[in-house]
Amino acid sequence: MPVISRGLEGIVAAETRIGDVRGDVGQLIYCGYDINELAGKASYEEVIHLLWHGHLPSKRELDKLTTALRAERELPQGVIDFLTAAPKSATPIDIMRTAVSMLGCYPTVRHDLDMNENEAIAIKLVAQIGIIAAYFHRARCGKDLPPIRKDLGEAAHFLWLMDGKEPTPDAVQTLDVAYVLHAEHGFNASTFTARVVASTLSDMYSAVSAAIGALKGPLHGGANEGVIHMLQEIGSLDRVDEWIDDALAQKKKIMGIGHRVYKVLDPRAPHLKTMATKLSNQLGEPKWIQMSERIAQIMKERKGLNANVDFYSATVYYSLGIPTDLFTPIFAIARASGWTAHILEQLADNRLFRPLSEYAGPEPGKKFVPIEDR
Ligand SMILES: CC(C)(COP(=O)(O)OP(=O)(O)OC[C@H]1O[C@@H](n2cnc3c(N)ncnc32)[C@H](O)[C@@H]1OP(=O)(O)O)[C@@H](O)C(=O)NCCC(=O)NCCS
Repeated sequence: MPVISRGLEGIVAAETRIGDVRGDVGQLIYCGYDINELAGKASYEEVIHLLWHGHLPSKRELDKLTTALRAERELPQGVIDFLTAAPKSATPIDIMRTAVSMLGCYPTVRHDLDMNENEAIAIKLVAQIGIIAAYFHRARCGKDLPPIRKDLGEAAHFLWLMDGKEPTPDAVQTLDVAYVLHAEHGFNASTFTARVVASTLSDMYSAVSAAIGALKGPLHGGANEGVIHMLQEIGSLDRVDEWIDDALAQKKKIMGIGHRVYKVLDPRAPHLKTMATKLSNQLGEPKWIQMSERIAQIMKERKGLNANVDFYSATVYYSLGIPTDLFTPIFAIARASGWTAHILEQLADNRLFRPLSEYAGPEPGKKFVPIEDR
């Protein structure tokens, strides 16, 4: 009898050399590097190279990658038209999913880059996904679309496009570290989705738009938006205990808490907590981090659950002045590097994903009855 594992829990679906999530010891590995070794030291662009090529870049390799990424920033006019004409009330993650899919209708990639077509598409997707989110945000606010620049790294360029003004070095450094921390996470739901789509020999745009659809859910990347909504609803530190009591009594999930794989602390959380503490103090609004700490403490004591990556990233983004509904798109921007790395790895040694299911319907033998006799 086949064993059923609901949610594929505990199932090893394939080998990967890209990342490893060691849930029992709270360790996250990117191609042999512990995340603690990279966060705050490696730039997001260095991490993209690491995930795509398996090693940190030399200076020459990094120059080549950053030049290629910056050269691919211009969106097709048809996509810009969509972003400016789309309903202003649409959520940015839906717009992002749709626009990434649209990019697949403009399949021109550069052929002078000494790489295969899918690698060139990966560069294009990683270069353009953030521009989609920032431009839609500007357009829905009735603001101009700032010109693309080639003198800024990925994090700085996103902030420039979103705000239309020069980002501060502190904000750039913070977002860059957040990108590094969100870039890769093994066979999480969105990455697995991307690999399943790639395994059918569909195309990269389809795989990444499907991954965005998976990331959107509140049990996955959508949790970071849920965290800020929760903090706003609670409102003040003195209301935290009562609010959590009520939520737990109603069997509600507390966003940003718990993890399918980590049974101890999510190693990304302390980095984000440090940044969130610094930023919310700088902002003169320490209550957000104070409330978060109290929630984390209660959840640890009451349920033995820890904060995950989304818990403190919410306060980090909020303190950077980023609108709440861009939190999940920012997760997608960073994770685009991991998704594309996994798609390339899948395609390099492909095997169609095709699990079995356990049939639980009626025994066969029913006879067809014409509709007028049913
Ligand atoms: C991430 C998540 C889906 C993983 O959960 P999972 O492995 O499927 O675990 P389950 O949902 O089966 O939960 C196991 C137990 O912990 C509880 N639990 C897990 N996460 C919880 C949370 N965030 N709040 C309250 N209770 C939680 C469940 O209620 C359940 O308790 P029970 O056994 O008394 O019924 C889950 O922790 C969750 O929904 N967290 C909130 C969303 C979130 O932050 N997602 C981002 C993940 S990076």
